[in-house]
Amino acid sequence: MRVSEASAPGKVILFGEHAVVYGQPAIAAPVTQVRAWARVRDGDQAGVYISAPDLEEEYWLHESQEDDALAAAARLVQQAAGLAMLPPLHIRVQSDIPIASGLGSGAATAAALIRALAQHLGRPDLARDERVADLTYEVEKIHHGTPSGIDNTVVALEQPVYFVRREPQNLIEPFSVVRPLTLLVADTGVRSSTRDVVGDVRRRRQEAPSHFERLFAACGRIARDAHRALQAGEVADVGRLMNENQALLQAMTVSSPALERLVNAAVAAGALGAKLSGAGRGGNMIALVDGSCETAVRRALEQAGATRVLVTTLGLRS
Ligand code: PMV
Repeated sequence: MRVSEASAPGKVILFGEHAVVYGQPAIAAPVTQVRAWARVRDGDQAGVYISAPDLEEEYWLHESQEDDALAAAARLVQQAAGLAMLPPLHIRVQSDIPIASGLGSGAATAAALIRALAQHLGRPDLARDERVADLTYEVEKIHHGTPSGIDNTVVALEQPVYFVRREPQNLIEPFSVVRPLTLLVADTGVRSSTRDVVGDVRRRRQEAPSHFERLFAACGRIARDAHRALQAGEVADVGRLMNENQALLQAMTVSSPALERLVNAAVAAGALGAKLSGAGRGGNMIALVDGSCETAVRRALEQAGATRVLVTTLGLRS
């Protein structure tokens, strides 16, 4: 029996969340310690069966809801492959990326499924990073409304990316982090809907356009400086810029008491910088550490209520 498998990593946004929706640059990086996997095998009866044990979901594709993300991913590959119908298949998706916490679990599961299915259908062209990123973007639109495109890009490319949303084509610049950076990724345990938070920021921006444009522009400057600092190995600058970005996210109202507690605890314990990551109002924060403070910062995050602390290194091939 033929089996095709693919996986995609989690991700963190290092700089520029929210502002990226409005055309400012942002930087995201893969978190390879957590992943989503998809396994596609030939089925034994007509139809496509999808199972996602982590989501406690299993169903036939033809019976799925219109807005089901995994079903949409399968249909998009079918369309892109120009097939009137899919052959009998069994698709299984698993993930250890925490959901609704800013680590890109939705994008990663969709990307893994799209790549595995494209391979299984004998379409390596559709399994290329750029095509996986584009198809994953279409899936992201179902639940996120107006995604900037950064999540699907970073999980498909599996590299740090400098990203600008723009017409007719987004600017996507994968880049190397010169000096490895260690990040602690700490979960508030509070789930948050990206769609709701992005929608709320949109409403607030409509009420106070110039205030929000100033905040977004300042985030853009920070992302540009951070891009330079990351490529030059200026770790202390990266940390300072994270703190500045966090202050702007607070001003945008997307931080929260739980996030503030973790950010403050990390900085007090010696982190070089700390900020929320992703949509905010819950989910994860990131703290930049070095060998001398990593243990103390981890302990401080746990004491401040983090429900899970991951460590990830940027700039080292895993
Ligand atoms: O919550 P996440 O990790 O999906 O992050 C969303 C990032 C935003 O900038 C808030 C939205 C977007 O589409 O870029």
